[in-house]
Amino acid sequence: MEDLSPKPGDLEAIEMASRDEISALQLQRMKWSLSHAYENSAFYRQRFDEAGVHPSDLGTLTDLAKFPFTTKKDLRDTYPFGMFAVPREKLVRVHASSGTTGKPTVVGYTKNDIETWATVVARSIRASGGRAGDIVHVAYGYGLFTGGLGAHYGAERLGCTVVPISGGMTERQVTLMQDFKPRIIMVTPSYMLSILDEYRRQGVDPRESSLAVGIFGAEPWTNAMREEIEQAFDMHAVDIYGLSEVMGPGVANECVETKDGLHIWEDHFFPEIIDPDTGKVLPDGEMGELVFTTLTKEGLPIIRYRTRDLTRLLPGTARSMRRIEKITGRSDDMIILRGVNVFPTQIEEQLLKCSGLAPHFQIELTRAGRMDNMTVHVECTPDASNETARANSAKELAHHIKSVVGVSTRIQIYDPGGVVRSEGKAKRVVDNRPKA
Ligand code: DLL
Repeated sequence: MEDLSPKPGDLEAIEMASRDEISALQLQRMKWSLSHAYENSAFYRQRFDEAGVHPSDLGTLTDLAKFPFTTKKDLRDTYPFGMFAVPREKLVRVHASSGTTGKPTVVGYTKNDIETWATVVARSIRASGGRAGDIVHVAYGYGLFTGGLGAHYGAERLGCTVVPISGGMTERQVTLMQDFKPRIIMVTPSYMLSILDEYRRQGVDPRESSLAVGIFGAEPWTNAMREEIEQAFDMHAVDIYGLSEVMGPGVANECVETKDGLHIWEDHFFPEIIDPDTGKVLPDGEMGELVFTTLTKEGLPIIRYRTRDLTRLLPGTARSMRRIEKITGRSDDMIILRGVNVFPTQIEEQLLKCSGLAPHFQIELTRAGRMDNMTVHVECTPDASNETARANSAKELAHHIKSVVGVSTRIQIYDPGGVVRSEGKAKRVVDNRPKA
C-alpha cells in the first residue's frame, strides 16, 4: 500500500498547533458558543436559568462541567425547530435522523455552518490520505441522513471530483468504479462488504481496483474488520466519526499514517468523557460516554450533548488535537446477557478470527422461560460450506466467544449470501424477546 503521510505544507496551521494554542482558541470560542445559545435559544436560556448558570460563569474550560447536558430527548421535545438559535430564514439546510422510535430529530445549518462542515470533512479526507484531484466515490446515503451530503461538500472543498452515487444498487456501484476509477471511497464498512461480494460475483479482483483509501464510519467497526477490508482491496481503511446533532461526518477522523484512533477537530468540537451513570467528568484516558459541545456552530449550538458513544480520550499523535479510541459501541446497543455486557463489535472481532466464516453477521436475542439466549447468524465462505466444515466453524466461533467475551451463544450458519446485507448502517441486533 502507498505511503500517504502528509507533505510539509499540506496541513492547516491549527492541525499542528500547540496544546496551549488549541486551549486558548477553545476557551474564546466556548464563551461565544455559550452566550450565543443563551441569548438566542429560548430552550438553552431556560435550561441554564434552571441550573442557575450563566455564560459568564465560564472562566476556564473545566467550568463547562457546571452547565447542563443536552440529550436526544431535548431535540425530540422541541421538534421540529425549537432548539435553533437563529431565525429559520437563516438556515440554508436541515437534516434529520430516521428516528426508529417516535419523532425524528431535526438539525439545521446556517451558511457558515455548512462552510465549517465542509472544512472539517475536507480535513478528514486529507487526514485519510485524500488530496485535490482525487475521484471520490460517495456511497453514503444522500438525503436527510448527513453522510452523503456531508462527505460530498467536504470532498468538493478539498478539490476532488465527487461521484455522488449514494447507497444501494450495488451492481452499478461496482460497474461505475471499474469505469471511473476512484482513488477514494466513502461508505459504511458494512456496505463496503456488500460491495466486496459484488466484485467477486462479477469476477473482478478487488485488489486490482483503483481504490487506495476507504473512509469508513457511521457505525462501529473493529480493527479486525479494518484488516479484512484492507487485505481484500489492497487499500487503506480509515475511520471517520460524527453525528448529526453535532454536525454530521467529520467531527473526528483517523490519520492514515498512524491509524491509532480518531483525532477530534477540537477547534470546532469540544469533547468530554463522563461517567454515564453519575454524569461526572472523567480524566483523559478513562472509558466513558462521549459528550460534545460545539464551539462555532450558529444554527443549532449544542452544549454538552450526550452521544451515548463509549470511548476514551487520548493525547494527540499525528496531529496535536486529542484522539478518541475506536468506538466500542453505543450504550443503547449494549446487550446484557445473563449478567455479561456484550457489544456487537466483540462478536465481530471473534468472527473474523474464524477462517471458514464470512464477515456478515446478525445477532438475535430470544427468551425461553426466564433465560435470554443469543444466536449469531453468520455465513460460511464458499470453500467451507460442507457439513463438517460448517460444524467446525460453528464450534470454533462459539468457543472464541465463550472464552473471550464470556457468554455461551448459538451459532447458526447459512450458505454464502444467506445473511441480510447492509446498504448503509448495518442492523446488528434483532431483539425477539417478549416486550416487558
Ligand atoms: O452517522 C454521521 C456519519 C456519516 C458519520 C458518515 C460518519 C460517516 P448519525 O446518523 O446521527 O450520523 O449517527 C451518529 O453513529 O453517535 C455513533 O453511534 C455512530 N457512528 C458514527 N460514526 C461512527 C464511527 C452519522 N466511526 C451515530 N464508529 C454516532 C462508530 C459511529 N460509530
